[in-house]
Amino acid sequence: MAETIHILIGTTSGNTEYLADQLSEALHQQGFATQLHDEPDLGTLPTEGTWLVCLASHGAGDYADSMLGFYDQISLHEDPLKQLKYAVIAIGESCYDTYCKAGRHLDSRLQELGGKRLTSRLEIDMLEDDPEQKALQWLPNMVNALNSEE
Ligand SMILES: Cc1cc2nc3c(=O)[nH]c(=O)nc-3n(C[C@H](O)[C@H](O)[C@H](O)COP(=O)(O)O)c2cc1C
Repeated sequence: MAETIHILIGTTSGNTEYLADQLSEALHQQGFATQLHDEPDLGTLPTEGTWLVCLASHGAGDYADSMLGFYDQISLHEDPLKQLKYAVIAIGESCYDTYCKAGRHLDSRLQELGGKRLTSRLEIDMLEDDPEQKALQWLPNMVNALNSEE
């Protein structure tokens, strides 16, 4: 039985939630269980498991609203996350100087805390890319990394 993938959703206006739903569906089709977290809480999320973070940047490169609380939690968190495997999809628009800054920040914060990055971060430019198509092309990188660990 494949492990559960926890999908963390950082959205303000819903685009990222829609994308996360598509990814969840694709993962189900490949035999994974998923759990969607629309307001991720570090207090209850398993840190010995797999996270797929889908995080949009807002403000001036800030975390989107549904993960503002998570930003505070992960910034203050001190215990190493050595049993965590994760991958990040950063969503933004290339017209901002702070393009995808939130996703970049969380990726490097999880590295700092000792998490294992399963594959390189995907950055989606909502001005240029087809988000679903780009994410579904990237997803096998994460799935292959997980499968090769078993
Ligand atoms: C007020 C506002 C601020 C934004 N700031 C950034 C930013 O700093 N960097 C970036 O890459 N994208 C930025 N964006 C683009 C959003 O990340 C993009 O619209 C994304 O699709 C929003 O996803 P969501 O619907 O899941 O919230 C901003 C969008 C808005 C409306």
